Amino acid sequence: MDPSSTDAAGPDGTVQADRLIVAMNGMRSAFDHALDSFLAEELDRLDSTVADALRYAVQSPGKRIRPLLLMAAYRAAGGENRAVADLALSVELVHAYSLVHDDLPCMDDDVLRRGRPTVHVKFGVPLAVLAGAALMPLAVRAILRAGPRLGLGPATVDRLVAVLAAASGAVGMVGGQLLDLRAEGCGVTREELERIHSGKTGRLIAASTVMGGIAAGAPKEEIEALRRFGLDLGLAFQAVDDILDLRGTAGEIGKESGRDRALGKATYPALYGVEETERISRAFAEAAIGELELLARPEDLRAIASYVIERTH
Ligand code: IPE
Ligand code: IPE
Ligand code: MG
Ligand code: MG
Ligand code: MG
Repeated sequence: MDPSSTDAAGPDGTVQADRLIVAMNGMRSAFDHALDSFLAEELDRLDSTVADALRYAVQSPGKRIRPLLLMAAYRAAGGENRAVADLALSVELVHAYSLVHDDLPCMDDDVLRRGRPTVHVKFGVPLAVLAGAALMPLAVRAILRAGPRLGLGPATVDRLVAVLAAASGAVGMVGGQLLDLRAEGCGVTREELERIHSGKTGRLIAASTVMGGIAAGAPKEEIEALRRFGLDLGLAFQAVDDILDLRGTAGEIGKESGRDRALGKATYPALYGVEETERISRAFAEAAIGELELLARPEDLRAIASYVIERTH
């Protein structure tokens, strides 16, 4: 994420915006640091080709929206332990796996990701399939390792694993990806489109905010608000991704553009055009922000929600 493009200025203006940019930079560097030490610990004992493919998939320059959301939700719900960056690794590892598999020739067949050749282009399809699969257990490992550092008991750690597993699996992200592939070349209704986007993108984003809330020990109503925030923001996020595929250049978005139209993907712009999709994405982001009333420190989540609809990559 490029915090300089974050429009966090609300009624209280630039002072608040500056503070948020600093907070976001702090979260980002805490995350980068946690990622480096996790990979150094976990990958050193692996075969070097597999380790290289995993590093390539994870350490490429992504926006890190999901871990930033987890950390911001933790803070919003009153959490203060910096080890939350270790927990935030888990959602980025699942996300990285989803991208490696999403780009495979049997899925979206993409050659460029985060401004670089995709994992299967660089390392071959078999290694990309295996590296992608290896990231899921590493995500669980990240939760198990973060639990004690955050002072969480076994029951809370179990809950975190259960939330991430449900969001990633056949009724979550994997299920959404399946619907996305099945819908290629078919007309879909708005309801069907929302099911696809909620599954493939919304569920993991909602898991990120929910996990932040759980780690902070938030009460049930706050966790439910964080879940609704994440689902709405996930729909806003995917609508903007669909617009960027149409309007962005490969140089800007780090992936080939025009792919959704070429593959006949179900997208908001295909259904409603770009202008209406912009309105829809804003409405989802506003609905998301509207869910934050119960939270003690919602500023960072609000700033990320603004960034999601204003981003250009
Ligand atoms: C791309 O996600 C895949 C979608 C769910 C739209 P991001 O836009 O978060 O990708 P990175 O992590 O920044 O590369
Ligand atoms: C990907 O959606 C969603 C997941 C990886 C789960 P897209 O296929 O639209 O993502 P991009 O555009 O390739 O990043
Ligand atoms: Mg896809
Ligand atoms: Mg894709
Ligand atoms: Mg896309």
